[in-house]
Amino acid sequence: MSGQGRFITFEGIDGSGKSTQARLLADHLRASGRDVVLTREPGGSPGAEDIRKLVLEGDADRWSAETELLLFTAARRDHLERTIAPAVAEGKIVVCDRFADSTRMYQGVGRADLRRLVDQLHELMICREPDLTILIDMDPETGLRRALSRGGEEERFESFGSDMQRRMRDGFLALAREFADRFIVIDGGRGIDDVAADVRRAVEGRI
Ligand code: ADP
Ligand code: TYD
Repeated sequence: MSGQGRFITFEGIDGSGKSTQARLLADHLRASGRDVVLTREPGGSPGAEDIRKLVLEGDADRWSAETELLLFTAARRDHLERTIAPAVAEGKIVVCDRFADSTRMYQGVGRADLRRLVDQLHELMICREPDLTILIDMDPETGLRRALSRGGEEERFESFGSDMQRRMRDGFLALAREFADRFIVIDGGRGIDDVAADVRRAVEGRI
């Protein structure tokens, strides 16, 4: 299947190791001769990176859940149009840190009960699912500790706390059952190399 474009996403709670594992997977695929685009959400295109600053910085109540959903969807539409879709069409492997499943969780069940609206907007404006989604599953306390230890300005979501992390973890596992055809769940509570080996196996088995 070399030469065929693929769209792979990483999902999971904050601090679960998605960015680390997305980077390691991209390095591995490049080393084996694949053309890879490593990207992230919110962001991944110049316009979407501008929106990222709006949604991740500032007070926790800066936006209502509905406004936030519109901002994430706008960022995703731009990212899809300008980065993801062109790369997949050129036969590249796109490795993306978060995508629409994060909206299903954070805006759909985490901050507010907006799943129906999330699904409607997705169908109207995005209408694209990944070929493979890797859920890095881990215990919420460890995830939050890791995420907060990074520091930085982007703490709007981490400031929602450990109860939200717990609900997100359960929600992601439920989502993996809902979309069982494209989800693979990997235990992220181990060393980086052990997790990375499982990720490589999962991807090689599917692409
Ligand atoms: P995410 O993108 O899911 O928020 P990161 O990849 O940024 O998570 O990881 C959060 C922090 O935890 C980083 O400081 C990273 O170096 C560290 N980390 C990532 N994976 C592991 C692991 N398996 N064991 C211990 N620390 C890890
Ligand atoms: P990210 O930078 O991936 O954070 P982390 O590395 O801590 O996992 O994402 C930032 C935050 O944005 C994260 O708390 C989840 C949130 N988010 C949403 O609420 N909805 C979305 O659609 C996306 C993509 C992210």
